[in-house]
Amino acid sequence: MAIASGNLALAIIGVITAGVVIVVATVSIYMCTKVVMKSSSQEYMGNQRRTAYGGGGGGSSSQRSRSRHRGCDADVEMGSMSHFIEGLQNERPVRFNAQQVRGFTDNYAHKIGSGGFGVVYRGSFPSSGVAVAVAVKVLNSTLGKCAEEQFMAEVGTIGRTYHINLVRLYGFCFDAEVKALVYEYMDKGSLDRYLFDPNPSCSRKFIGFEKLHEIAVGTAKAVRYLHEECAQRIIHYDIKPENVLLSGEEMAPKVSDFGLAKLCDREVTHLTITGARGTPGYAAPELWTPMPVTHKCDVYSYGMLLFEVLGRRRNLQLGVHGGRDQSQEWYPRWVWNRFEAGEMEAVLARATAASGGKEMREKLAERVCKVALWCVQYRPEDRPSMGDVVRMLEGEDHIAAPCNPFAHLAPYSAAVTAEMDGSSARAKR
Ligand SMILES: Nc1ncnc2c1ncn2[C@@H]1O[C@H](COP(=O)(O)OP(=O)(O)OP(=O)(O)O)[C@@H](O)[C@H]1O
Ligand SMILES: [Mg+2]
Repeated sequence: MAIASGNLALAIIGVITAGVVIVVATVSIYMCTKVVMKSSSQEYMGNQRRTAYGGGGGGSSSQRSRSRHRGCDADVEMGSMSHFIEGLQNERPVRFNAQQVRGFTDNYAHKIGSGGFGVVYRGSFPSSGVAVAVAVKVLNSTLGKCAEEQFMAEVGTIGRTYHINLVRLYGFCFDAEVKALVYEYMDKGSLDRYLFDPNPSCSRKFIGFEKLHEIAVGTAKAVRYLHEECAQRIIHYDIKPENVLLSGEEMAPKVSDFGLAKLCDREVTHLTITGARGTPGYAAPELWTPMPVTHKCDVYSYGMLLFEVLGRRRNLQLGVHGGRDQSQEWYPRWVWNRFEAGEMEAVLARATAASGGKEMREKLAERVCKVALWCVQYRPEDRPSMGDVVRMLEGEDHIAAPCNPFAHLAPYSAAVTAEMDGSSARAKR
């Protein structure tokens, strides 16, 4: 009996001991797990903070992935909703994958236009919920030659180049399938549609000359910023009305496609028979002759844009007749001839056509005319800087009488002019 009760006591003690061991083990495992979780969460938060303030974003999405990409110093991120919002706030381009790009263009459903670099589609990000309108430029496959590191470095620069008159780059896609740039959407489209459309639709409003002057000044300020105010000077190489985009009721102008010349191989995308860069009609002489190229090539293109603003027409329009020396086919030269002959009324007539405030418009148009003539001087060093251009257009600086920008050309011949303008190259593209 005594033995039996001793065994019972031992059994009870054994059970209690086993219970204590199990409890202690469970608590220990729990504590260890907690410590591990805490340290990994701290590491994650640390990464987030580094990303938010040192080159990345601060969101909490599980889609978050590495911010920097294979040793490239482009400051970019893998795309998610939170990254996108942060990118907007922190002014950095976001990296998207091909599936995301397809998603927010609704499988490339709405084509806006196309140009030398590729096709542009309208879209929104995200495709449902809080929608931010975007324009997606899907780049030509020729870009395949562009190394990923180079692409990301350039995109990083473009995405951090910020000015009120520059179109904002939100993000990009670079993968085997798709190379694309995701831009701020400009709801009023490009300036060319307002200047050259012979039958403006009801939805497209007429832009008066005062507003055109404002748009020209905004455009000049954007180029001045690229040339004179950026940490590293950016030459645009492709200033033209198609690259001046407008938004909102106030038709605020913003320059697009800056930085693309370096990003894309322009020799391939904008090929002309001379192998020149830029768009025929706007490209400065030094771009199609073996002369050194500087930022002044943008000043020349800007001058060509100003002539088109002044005349509300393409600079080269074959078949616009007059006497031989009066031919208006090559508009800039016709403007010079009228200016030289002291017949400015003929030039200003178009710009000041609308009723009311004629005097003001004449003053602005005369300024635009003289600045245009200065900008297209043959020798780059004779052209003003974009800072000078802004001051002259705004009436801050006196504008001296321009010299003849076409003195180097033979007397007018439509054939020669067309050749000079590169229109034959355009036809063969
Ligand atoms: N961010 C944008 N928002 C709205 N429309 C745009 C935007 N970017 C481009 N577009 C439209 O798409 C058209 C095509 O643009 P794209 O830049 O591809 O060609 P381009 O400007 O005619 O020539 P280039 O390739 O020399 O710039 C533009 O004329 C413009 O109307
Ligand atoms: Mg463009």
